[in-house]
Amino acid sequence: MMQDRERWNARFLAGDAQSGEPDPFLVQGCSGLTPGSALDLAGGAGRHAIWLAQRGWRVVLADISNEGLAIAMRRTAKLGLSLSFRCESATETLAWALSGGIRFDLVAVFWFLLREGFGILPRLLNPGGVLVYRTFTSEHARFSGGTPAGFALDPGELHWAFPSLEPILCRESEGVGEFVGRAGQAASRAPGS
Ligand SMILES: C[S@@+](CC[C@H](N)C(=O)[O-])C[C@H]1O[C@@H](n2cnc3c(N)ncnc32)[C@H](O)[C@@H]1O
Repeated sequence: MMQDRERWNARFLAGDAQSGEPDPFLVQGCSGLTPGSALDLAGGAGRHAIWLAQRGWRVVLADISNEGLAIAMRRTAKLGLSLSFRCESATETLAWALSGGIRFDLVAVFWFLLREGFGILPRLLNPGGVLVYRTFTSEHARFSGGTPAGFALDPGELHWAFPSLEPILCRESEGVGEFVGRAGQAASRAPGS
């Protein structure tokens, strides 16, 4: 975990990963949704959290990198927006939400592999809430000509990763996996919670 923080802090300090533009898949995945509560998990410098907050969502932006979050905080202050920030590992964010019974209408995960959290992410959704997930598969290097990503989905993995969600969109193209799924109306509570 400390290694992730150090590695990503160095990247943010070097000017990497600082786009302010939302990924078009988030824009597509959220189209038609009524703003509510949202979690941007491993949200980095905040491009998605800020885009959502500008559209009326109440957003928690969580990331392990204090440097990434510092950029997000500066951008947020400049825009006069109000977000909640959590500097911690994704595992800690899941534990925080689960143990506090905190649920969201939207959870966004972009360009981050959280395989050990696949069983938990649906439980963070309110009934009718939506998960939007987009990241590399292990096929990506074949299309990009780059080096294989160390943290990549297996081909087809998003097709079976969230069996409790109703898939709205699930596709894979050129080494990128994309999923939008909705929790049922009865949904998503852990037994006894
Ligand atoms: C490729 S960036 C994507 C950032 C953001 N989702 C976006 O699309 O702009 C990956 C992010 O994952 C964060 N990260 C890496 N390891 C993490 C961990 N164990 N827990 C939480 N965040 C982590 C990094 O700090 C970085 O912000």
